[in-house]
Amino acid sequence: MATSKKFYIETLGCQMNVLDSELAAAALVQAGMLAVDRAYDADIVLFNTCSVRKHAEDKVYSALGRLKDWKKTNPGGILGVMGCMAQKEQKLIFQLAPNVDFVLGPGRLDSLVEMIDQAETGRKPDRSSSRLICVSLDRTAHRHTDVLDSFRQHNPDRVLSPGMPLDTVPLDTDTVCVPDRPSGHGESPTLVRITFGCDQFCSYCIVPFVRGPEQSRPPKDIFGEVQHLARQGISKITLIGQAVNSYQHTDGEKQTHLADLLYYISDIAGIEQIDFVTNYPRIGDDLLKAVRDLPKVLKHFHVPAQSGSDTVLKRMNRHYTAAYYREMVDRIYGTIPGSTITSDFIVGFCGETDADFEQTVDLVKYCKFRNSFIFKYSERAGTKAAELYADDVPDDVKRERNNRLLAVQKESG
Ligand code: 5AD
Ligand code: SF4
Repeated sequence: MATSKKFYIETLGCQMNVLDSELAAAALVQAGMLAVDRAYDADIVLFNTCSVRKHAEDKVYSALGRLKDWKKTNPGGILGVMGCMAQKEQKLIFQLAPNVDFVLGPGRLDSLVEMIDQAETGRKPDRSSSRLICVSLDRTAHRHTDVLDSFRQHNPDRVLSPGMPLDTVPLDTDTVCVPDRPSGHGESPTLVRITFGCDQFCSYCIVPFVRGPEQSRPPKDIFGEVQHLARQGISKITLIGQAVNSYQHTDGEKQTHLADLLYYISDIAGIEQIDFVTNYPRIGDDLLKAVRDLPKVLKHFHVPAQSGSDTVLKRMNRHYTAAYYREMVDRIYGTIPGSTITSDFIVGFCGETDADFEQTVDLVKYCKFRNSFIFKYSERAGTKAAELYADDVPDDVKRERNNRLLAVQKESG
């Protein structure tokens, strides 16, 4: 009897990637493969990558380089790059990491098993890589409908088999940026995607290009998935999307928003805890009321502010002011006493002066965040910020601001 092929997945980045790795692992288990937790024990090694900052990409390239030895001892081994870097870098990956067999964009996750098969059958006689590539269309160079078609929604029902329990996907703790949430006790929440892609186009961010146009999943699909999970004993879920509160689905006359989803999902027997990440700072009263009134919904909001300076926010193409953000925070605490808020900040964005940064410090002091995730600005080719503005804050200043803001957060949280 043929032995099962073993696979290993390394996951970097955000909650979208964590979910994609779970879906990938589930598909491979269903295809008869076995998950292992060390690359060196695997026949198939997959990197589910992140492009949000350069550091995350550098880590992947050095890890791919280190896998040369694994390829030598495993000449039939398959090495695949998935996730945001796959979509961003495309063929460049083969130049910088010649031992990679295939590159698979996040909008083509449904083709993973097929890619592995093709990589195995298409291997050249000298056993060198077959260099397959499967990515979505470039959103700036094609018709919108074609681009949408090429970023496929992929949400198979997850069967929680003993071979692939959720939560076993190893995370790279150095680059991961999954906002922590008050999770209560016991089982950690199961991720359920409600939107794909992003249409916000914050000027620094690569996500709208690599994850494609925003698409809201039909409510009945989300409902069906949560029911399916509940039947398997899952009681905590986290609804995820790049800007989860811009969820909007239209069916004839009927419009569904995030608040409506929270009401529907609260009614599902077996579901005891619901939360949602990540929010754009545009929290409406309907959403606030739903969170206040539904006992199963965690009283918590992850709402990245990014900066406390209006000039910086404008250059970032964030469509709000620091005053709006403060008012929103007041509204959250006022409507839901005891609620918690977490945020993300980018320090050292193009043109950020000491005075701009002090406004960010003031915002952190004012908002009493339970936690803030602070990132040094990292220029991403292809974004508006890279095209229009110089990355002119020196790295040591970025580092100082990062440390200072962390200290302020610690004191005021
Ligand atoms: N440089 C630094 N941080 C970034 N983020 C997004 N793009 C960049 C970038 N180019 C941060 C934002 C976002 C978080 C997930 O990553 O703060 O909220
Ligand atoms: Fe990037 Fe802005 Fe979309 Fe978040 S909302 S993924 S920061 S473009």
